[in-house]
Amino acid sequence: MENRQVVLRRRPRGLPRAADFALADALVPEPAGNETLLRNLYCSLDPAMRRWMDEDNYAGSIPLGAPLPCLCLSQVVKSGTGALQAGDMLLAMGLVGEFSILGAGDWFSRIDRGGQVPLSHHLSLYGLNAMTAYFGLMDIGRPTAGETVLVSGAAGSVGSLVGQIAKIKGCHTVGIAGGVRKCRRLMGEFSFDAALDYQHRSLDQLTTDIRAACPDGVDIYFDNVGGIVLDAALAVINRHARLVECGMVSQYNASEHSPGPGNIWQIIAKTATMRGFLGRDYLDRYSEAITHLRNWATEGRIHAREHIETGLENFYDTFVRLFDGSNEGKLMLKIGEPDQEFTALS
Ligand SMILES: NC(=O)c1ccc[n+]([C@@H]2O[C@H](COP(=O)([O-])OP(=O)(O)OC[C@H]3O[C@@H](n4cnc5c(N)ncnc54)[C@H](OP(=O)(O)O)[C@@H]3O)[C@@H](O)[C@H]2O)c1
Repeated sequence: MENRQVVLRRRPRGLPRAADFALADALVPEPAGNETLLRNLYCSLDPAMRRWMDEDNYAGSIPLGAPLPCLCLSQVVKSGTGALQAGDMLLAMGLVGEFSILGAGDWFSRIDRGGQVPLSHHLSLYGLNAMTAYFGLMDIGRPTAGETVLVSGAAGSVGSLVGQIAKIKGCHTVGIAGGVRKCRRLMGEFSFDAALDYQHRSLDQLTTDIRAACPDGVDIYFDNVGGIVLDAALAVINRHARLVECGMVSQYNASEHSPGPGNIWQIIAKTATMRGFLGRDYLDRYSEAITHLRNWATEGRIHAREHIETGLENFYDTFVRLFDGSNEGKLMLKIGEPDQEFTALS
């Protein structure tokens, strides 16, 4: 069997280029002991993967020539644990490639195939991005009805869910996204109360726009982008505001260190809290988020938009969409179909 993988050829400088990656053929890995062999069906493409490509980053460096790690929706080929059977579907950290190994003790979440939910929903509406949205807003933002929640990257995978959950919690929701089309989508599809386009806006213009859309000030700022949007949001926060630092996608391709926000003083002046977090720190509470998301989805109160491209050979063209805003929802690469024989058995 072939095992095609996308490997890191060289570390990107700035926006990744196609030549930073290569398609390589590898042997299908042989699981040892109680390891499990997985065939990957969907690879989740996430902005943080750009950070992981740097030499020095929070998740550990990817060696040159090694396949790229990513969250995968996979099917068990050969199980090394009594908890899994061949044919089972699961979410686990894997590789941008056809096969990966699940180590004994590695986190995974088994997918219940009884619910008739399309497989891709397990990466969009019930994936780690959804868990990030849920716990970032609920645990760190702690919204109460009537508060104003400002969300950047609001048309994206995490941001669109944050906006919908905040709305369910009775908040006034204001989303920031790039371009008129996405802003229309914020108010139509994702029920935001107001939408702001950040493109081609100066810091002063953005601050004015946020102030106008948030007449009572900002109680929670869910930050997915950093940069001048963060600076503008800081200018409009209320006393005791919570800034949920989820991501800084505007900085991931920066080749030079950029100075911090000029408005950081506002954290002191408004006795606000600014807290970063990683969704993966909530893995032990995954089912709690999923239960709520599933109920809201059943009631028609929440949904996730997906952007699925096909084929490992399209990895690069797909991945860079995260940085020019041309992804239209949770970005993923479909690389295989489930084995029906296994599915029938499960
Ligand atoms: N803390 C965690 O554990 C965790 C987990 C998952 C994700 N995240 C973070 O959450 C954020 C959103 O991730 P996602 O997976 O939901 O991606 P996404 O929002 O679906 O896609 C990325 C979006 O970022 C926006 N963007 C790209 N370059 C930008 C720039 N220079 N300035 C402003 N916006 C820019 C684009 O939207 P526009 O067209 O609107 O510009 C693009 O569509 C990222 O920062 C990611 O790293 C954090």
